Amino acid sequence: MFCTDLASRKSQPSIGDAPEQIASGQPVYAPSAIPARICFADRRGGKFRFLHGVPGYVTLLFTNKAAINAKEAGFDGIEVHGAGGYLIHQLLDSGLNICTDSWGGSFENRSQFGLEVLRVVIDVWGADRVGIKLDPTGGYNDMGMPLEETLETYNYFITQVDQLGLAYIAIQRYSEFNDPIIEGKRRAVQHDVVAAYSHLIKKSTFLSNGNFTPEEAAQYVSEGKISGVFWGQLWISHPDFAKRIRYGKPVDTPVDMQPVYGNTDGMTLNDQRVGYTDYPFAEYPNEA
Ligand SMILES: Cc1cc2nc3c(=O)[nH]c(=O)nc-3n(C[C@H](O)[C@H](O)[C@H](O)COP(=O)(O)O)c2cc1C
Repeated sequence: MFCTDLASRKSQPSIGDAPEQIASGQPVYAPSAIPARICFADRRGGKFRFLHGVPGYVTLLFTNKAAINAKEAGFDGIEVHGAGGYLIHQLLDSGLNICTDSWGGSFENRSQFGLEVLRVVIDVWGADRVGIKLDPTGGYNDMGMPLEETLETYNYFITQVDQLGLAYIAIQRYSEFNDPIIEGKRRAVQHDVVAAYSHLIKKSTFLSNGNFTPEEAAQYVSEGKISGVFWGQLWISHPDFAKRIRYGKPVDTPVDMQPVYGNTDGMTLNDQRVGYTDYPFAEYPNEA
């Protein structure tokens, strides 16, 4: 099991005001105070402390601590979160990263923070226990740069990341599920990420996700486009997901997103199972 390491603008102001955050003595930092217009489905994101000067010192120290903590907690590895509108994603994004020092500006500078985080985590875990998740098309949490800049930035960043020889580089494909409509328009910068970036990944394993059917995943893998696919929604809504694929059973139960991030005040544990662990199993022959 890999532990995900993430932070930043995507955090809600309520998280910034949480007792644990206050006790830490640290505000929630970002490379600009530009809030997400849509964050967590339909709420507006918070304003965060603009990380002036040397972000490396503050955040890389925490990254090192988080990597050590994850190891002590017994995880098998670390997935550095470079997607979802979190800190690395923001630093990469020319519209959000307004740093005027060596962490902002050119695509090389914007890539440095993610590369530094990876180096810190690799120091603790070794590269073969470290992966990264990326989302160049953006959309979710109001992320995304113009296409030409996206290609330029991610071509460079993925090439550099690959040189580190990670356990895997996971690139999320475009899906409407992750693409809010903002001011009447879809937000994401749609492009085929497998076609655009697969040729850059030589020393790490290339994984992808985002709205794959099992058949499509098998085809991509057998054609050598990617080494593997991972799932979010289908995995949640089918407790026997792998077995269903093995037995050719349909994977057609949609996730009920309503209870997923709902308020659990006053709910029993049994109530809270709804939408998480109450999805049906398929029927199998006796011997299965
Ligand atoms: C309920 C739910 C919670 C999720 N939480 C996270 C998360 O914490 N971190 C993350 O990187 N992605 C998260 N995702 C996104 C998934 O990892 C995945 O990238 C996305 O659902 C697209 O893949 P899919 O089409 O297979 O669902 C979540 C998705 C769902 C449905």
